[in-house]
Amino acid sequence: MGVIGLPHVYSGKVRDVYDAGDGRLLMVTSDRISAFDVVMEEPVPDKGRVLTAMTAFWLDHFGVPNHLISTAVADFPAEARSDPDMAGRAMLVRRAEMLPVECIVRGYLSGSAWKEYREQGTMHGTRLSAGLLESAELPEPVFTPSTKADEGHDENIGFDEAVDLVGRELAERARDLSLELYAKGADWAAQRGIIIADTKFELGLVDGELVVADEVLTPDSSRFWPAGTYEPGGPQPSFDKQPVRDFLEGLDWDKQPPPPPLPTEVVTASRARYVEAYERITGQSFSEWPGVGT
Ligand SMILES: Nc1ncnc2c1ncn2[C@@H]1O[C@H](COP(=O)(O)OP(=O)(O)OP(=O)(O)O)[C@@H](O)[C@H]1O
Ligand SMILES: [Mg+2]
Repeated sequence: MGVIGLPHVYSGKVRDVYDAGDGRLLMVTSDRISAFDVVMEEPVPDKGRVLTAMTAFWLDHFGVPNHLISTAVADFPAEARSDPDMAGRAMLVRRAEMLPVECIVRGYLSGSAWKEYREQGTMHGTRLSAGLLESAELPEPVFTPSTKADEGHDENIGFDEAVDLVGRELAERARDLSLELYAKGADWAAQRGIIIADTKFELGLVDGELVVADEVLTPDSSRFWPAGTYEPGGPQPSFDKQPVRDFLEGLDWDKQPPPPPLPTEVVTASRARYVEAYERITGQSFSEWPGVGT
C-alpha cells in the first residue's frame, strides 16, 4: 500500500504512519494480522477498516478530547487521496506527544497478568486475593500500566512507576480517564454479548491537552471474549482471532517466523468475526462503512 508523496514516519505490525503536515499524521491501518506475535502472510480483508471504524465509533461515543480529525478521504492531503485502497482505513489525526506508558486497564485476569499472579500472587506488583482462577473477573477494573518498549516486549509496571515516568498529576489523570473509558466501553459491549476483558489505551498531549490517541477499544488493542461461552478456570476463546489460533495450534509450528500459510476458510472465518464484533458493538452495518466491498 503506497501513500505516494507523504513522508513515512513509522510502521508497526499493523499501522503505517505518515506525516500529513501542520502537526498532523495520517495513520493507515493495514489488514495484517498477527498471532502468537508473528505477522501472518495472508491479510484479513477489511480488518484495517474494522479497526478504524470501531475506533471512530468509540471516540464519537465517548466524546472526550482525542486525536481524530477525520476518517474521510476527502479531508486527507492530496497525496493520499488518489490511493483507491485508502477509503475507510485511515485516520487523519493530530500528532500527539505520546506518554511513555501504555494505559492498560484490566477487568479480568488474563495474559501476562494471569502469569504473574500464578507465579507470585500479584498483578503488576500489587497483591491480589488468593485462589483466583484464570480469566476471573476482578473485583473491580484496575489500571495496570506498562512501559512502551522500542524493542521486545513491554514491561508491566505499577502505578508508582508510572508516576516516576510521567509525574503524579499526569499519571493520575491518565489512570482516571482510562478507567472511565474502560468502564463505559466494557459495559456497552457486555450488553451486546462481548466481554472486553482488558484493553490498552495510548494517551498523548496535544498543545498541553491530554487526548486519547491511537486505536480505541478494538479487538487488536483489547481482549474481546464471547460472553455466551465465558467460563473462568482457563483461557477464553478470542472473539476475533480464534479461527487463526485454532488452525495454528493444530499444526506442528514452533511459533517463530516464517508463519505457515493460512487456508482461505480460516481467513474468511476470522474476517467474519471482526465484522461481527463491529456490528454488534456499533449496531451499524459494516457494508455501509467507506471502502468495504470495493
Ligand atoms: N496522535 C498520535 N500522535 C503520535 N503518535 C501516535 C498517535 N496515535 C498513535 N500514535 C503512535 O503510532 C503508532 C501506531 O503504530 P502501530 O499500532 O502499528 O504500532 P505499535 O503499537 O507501535 O506496535 P505494534 O507493532 O505492536 O502494533 C504507535 O507507536 C502509537 O503510539
Ligand atoms: Mg499499536
